[in-house]
Amino acid sequence: MKTTVLAATLLIPLVPALAAAQPAAAGGADVTFTRDIVPILQRSCQSCHRAGEMAPMSLVTYEEVRPWARSIRNRVVAREMPPLHIDRHIGIQEFKDDPSLSDEEIALVAAWVDNGAPRGDPADMPPLREFPDAAAWQIGEPDLVIRYPAMPVPAEGPDMFGAVYSPLELENDRYIKAIQHRPVGDGSRRVIHHALSFAVDQDEFTQMPSVSGHFLMEYASGKNGEVYPEDSGVLLQAGKKMKLDYHLHPVGEPIDAVMELGIVLHPEDVTPRHIRWSKQLGQHVTDIDIPAGTVVRRDGYTMMNKAARITAFQPHMHALGRYQCLELIYPTASTPMQTEVVSCAHFDSNWHLVYNYADDAAPLVPAGTILHIISWHDNTAGNRANPDPKNWVGNGRGRTIDEMAFAWIGWYDLTDEEYEEELAARKARRAQQGAATAGQQ
Ligand code: HEC
Repeated sequence: MKTTVLAATLLIPLVPALAAAQPAAAGGADVTFTRDIVPILQRSCQSCHRAGEMAPMSLVTYEEVRPWARSIRNRVVAREMPPLHIDRHIGIQEFKDDPSLSDEEIALVAAWVDNGAPRGDPADMPPLREFPDAAAWQIGEPDLVIRYPAMPVPAEGPDMFGAVYSPLELENDRYIKAIQHRPVGDGSRRVIHHALSFAVDQDEFTQMPSVSGHFLMEYASGKNGEVYPEDSGVLLQAGKKMKLDYHLHPVGEPIDAVMELGIVLHPEDVTPRHIRWSKQLGQHVTDIDIPAGTVVRRDGYTMMNKAARITAFQPHMHALGRYQCLELIYPTASTPMQTEVVSCAHFDSNWHLVYNYADDAAPLVPAGTILHIISWHDNTAGNRANPDPKNWVGNGRGRTIDEMAFAWIGWYDLTDEEYEEELAARKARRAQQGAATAGQQ
């Protein structure tokens, strides 16, 4: 079997610790809001932090931002905001629609706050960023619109987690070409923290975050529509029903939150060449058994029977989940065994984040590759999300207080020839890029 060099990632020992980016000491005495900070807020924060969206405050004008300067510094330096919890020290670092700040931008924000968060010259202020109309379908007119039942959110109280179901009117199996969530009305947008749609069996009924079914799409502010690449699609089976897993957040007034899912289908007689799958893989092999006050690790393995392009990694655990990694074990006969850790992510059960790999970074794996999912649970008092560090916790029947450990993995099957072709094309592109960079020096 020939050597397969894939995503060009680095092997670095795993240290499940919270990311603590240290901003470089930027001189920064003249960093200003209007010139340096606004572009960062526009690109990485305002999709959620603006009027009518779900983040707690708007970060658009100087007057709105100034009172939050200290808190912004803390969250940005800790890489908690924007919420993308991938470990920046391990594996693939290129993702679609990545709002993350670079180390330089983090240093700018820190320097700006340390210097008293000055406004700067109003003439430097760029025009306000315009956002697409949240009430419009950005994927074109859908063939199917699923309207989930209203989810009543009281004015006050804890965040709410659960699921609602809706029938799926579909006579034959079809393929999805594009898909979008659309919260109905401003109120819905403000209370829906995030939501995920699944196609599940008719007899499923649980109030639990999804433990089964076919994952279709995640909703979070600023990330609501997805058009699949040319000649590709996602299978939508007839005879299923739809499920929306939700995380709702009270905002001071009672709101009936309503979510719609719009789907554009490929024509009836078309089977796209590339079909994207999305399944729970790497289920823990041994029981989850977490004595009070301990951190435990669980491992799960799934073999890919066909070659594949892996497009998405989404860790799934519950409150005690802290950190998860995706490792590839290649089917080589050589020793030592060829393995590669392609992604690790810190985990926070408030954020069900899907890491969609950038096209040119998505792992290409040969048939027979084993996906190894490594999950850490933290039942100590040091875990802020731990409801009770004095309790034993295990995997149970799927109550929220029981734990889980697997990853939702999105992928396209490839034939062996397609795999070889894609790999060769990628190597050629990399070589070209390498030459171009060398040429500039
Ligand atoms: C995907 C949506 C989203 C994006 C993007 C986002 N935030 Fe947030 N932010 C939230 C939500 C929701 C909360 C409240 C829950 C929490 O604290 O996690 C929050 C909380 C915060 C807080 C704490 C507020 C408090 O009550 O103390 C700060 C500060 C913050 N965000 C700053 C930022 C900055 C700066 C950026 C961009 C660099 C950003 N956020 C990007 C959704 C977002």
